[in-house]
Amino acid sequence: MLHKRWFPDQIVGETVVLRRHVRENLRDFLRWYQDPEVARLTRYQDGPMKPDEIERFFTMRAMGPDSLAMGIHIKATNQLIGSCAFSQLDADNGSVLFHITIGEHAAWGQGYGSEATALMVEHAFSNLGLHRVALTVFAFNERAIRAYMRVGFQAEGAAREAIWRDGSWWDEVHMSVLEPEWRTARWQARAVADGRSLGAGAEGRPTLKPRSWRA
Ligand SMILES: CC(C)(COP(=O)(O)OP(=O)(O)OC[C@H]1O[C@@H](n2cnc3c(N)ncnc32)[C@H](O)[C@@H]1OP(=O)(O)O)[C@@H](O)C(=O)NCCC(=O)NCCS
Repeated sequence: MLHKRWFPDQIVGETVVLRRHVRENLRDFLRWYQDPEVARLTRYQDGPMKPDEIERFFTMRAMGPDSLAMGIHIKATNQLIGSCAFSQLDADNGSVLFHITIGEHAAWGQGYGSEATALMVEHAFSNLGLHRVALTVFAFNERAIRAYMRVGFQAEGAAREAIWRDGSWWDEVHMSVLEPEWRTARWQARAVADGRSLGAGAEGRPTLKPRSWRA
């Protein structure tokens, strides 16, 4: 039961709370993953998953005993808006792959995705003792790329023209954040929030936009 060992029941942020999935969340998964726009942003295949594929995906990836997935809830209302997960955990090399889908369109662009990502990265480094969190994202998904950069991910390469979408070829961008740069960026954000000087040499260090959930 990896999940129980690797994740607490919940991870509480400022605007979102990550909670383990429960069976009832399947209803929302079925709606989100049949949404053509969610499919356009997240899938190599043209078009959404079929309901039976979504159910299998939910059972294995969200509820399975080895799953490293958490539901994303708006803290103020408890509404479930999406899901985030780790996969390909490589304990030998301290790395993991991150995935996130906010299925509710109305919740896009309000900072929830950045905060959920930051909570997962913090958990990976502080509690799981990992060294690297990586992800892939289609180059046309600007909202996602901006959210990941806000958290501290850097582009490290791309699978060139790996996807045909909306009449063009697009790269699949590879991004990652490493534990030491995450610590430095958090330290800087805290220093900025406290009005402290960053000191000599700080210019070259990675920075995060100051937001209180990062400090
Ligand atoms: C990608 C996703 C997790 C981001 O979460 P979010 O809560 O919507 O994003 P945030 O509000 O935290 O950050 C969005 C950033 O993009 C910007 N943005 C918002 N809408 C945008 C748009 N239409 N185009 C470009 N940038 C946009 C915001 O200004 C913000 O950038 P900033 O912090 O530099 O100002 C979420 O939108 C999502 O799940 N989308 C559908 C599925 C998906 O794309 N998953 C990722 C697959 S790799």
